[in-house]
Amino acid sequence: MSSAIFFKAIEQEIARTQYGESPVELYEPIAYLMSLGGKRMRPAICLMAASIFSDDWQKATKPALGVEVFHNFTLMHDDIMDAAPLRRGQPTVHEKWNSSVAILSGDVMLVCAYELMTAVKDNIFKKVIRRFNRTAAEVCEGQQLDMNFASRNDVSEEEYINMIRLKTSVLLGFALELGGMIAETSEANTQLLYEIGTNIGIGFQLKDDILDVYGDPEKFGKQVGGDIIENKKTFLLIEALAQAKGKPEEKELAQWLSAQSFDKAEKVKAVTNIYDTLGIKQMAESKMNEFFSKGLNDLERLEAPAERKKPLLDIIYMLIEREN
Ligand code: IPE
Ligand code: IPE
Ligand code: MG
Ligand code: MG
Ligand code: MG
Repeated sequence: MSSAIFFKAIEQEIARTQYGESPVELYEPIAYLMSLGGKRMRPAICLMAASIFSDDWQKATKPALGVEVFHNFTLMHDDIMDAAPLRRGQPTVHEKWNSSVAILSGDVMLVCAYELMTAVKDNIFKKVIRRFNRTAAEVCEGQQLDMNFASRNDVSEEEYINMIRLKTSVLLGFALELGGMIAETSEANTQLLYEIGTNIGIGFQLKDDILDVYGDPEKFGKQVGGDIIENKKTFLLIEALAQAKGKPEEKELAQWLSAQSFDKAEKVKAVTNIYDTLGIKQMAESKMNEFFSKGLNDLERLEAPAERKKPLLDIIYMLIEREN
């Protein structure tokens, strides 16, 4: 089966979903953010996972959209926290309206996500909600660690991987697991689906960190250099801090990290130059490939016909090569 059918099912479900009408300030930003698109990767992989084990994968469409609405809720709040001006090539909700609107609209989006999740069958409902609850709490834990790390310069690679596992990868894991639960496959298969998702999710966030520095502004859809401006402890910065030890770049990097007032473009350029000198991009790419390879190996181990696994395999390769 081609991947397009899953993306189409999601777009159709989005087109027929109403989140609420009044007051407009509450609901308009939801329609706005959802209409800006994005890759729709999480709901698509959820449907793909369901289709590996069930011909009736369409019954996963509403819950899959629930995962996408949850993801968009996290983006609405994340953009406030990261002071991000751009999302999917357009102004972020807090820029277009204001932060109060983005907070409350995000809150009701979370409720909408749960509402969509209630479309699962009664016999799996409790299990699905418990797993969704755990995942949602972990995303918040990861987001808090991400903010805590911004003011620290001694974050280890291990701490970083754990942080991105929480803020990003558990949701990809849950998306696949949810597809498995809805298809009512075995516990072992569901667990393996979760592991595929979390490994791919870590690779995915490493790619996001790389694109944040090296992305093409025309294609990326977000502000290039945003992580550098905010002193985010991405893999690139953590590796640069380690590689710069005893070299001239050590002092230069420390100065940029402690600078209180600076020209944003100048900082982005200087820190990117340091990364280039130290060969950081290649190191980040090799770490990223490590995790994508783990995910691909797990997928290989999943006991199902190769043609059923093909859409998932294709999307993993697409995520490795992506430019936005
Ligand atoms: C952005 O996710 C947030 C991260 C976890 C890096 P995506 O890159 O999937 O964003 P959209 O939905 O495609 O815009
Ligand atoms: C986002 O990480 C993770 C969540 C939204 C939970 P980022 O802050 O790197 O995501 P982008 O780059 O803004 O999409
Ligand atoms: Mg962000
Ligand atoms: Mg963030
Ligand atoms: Mg990012």
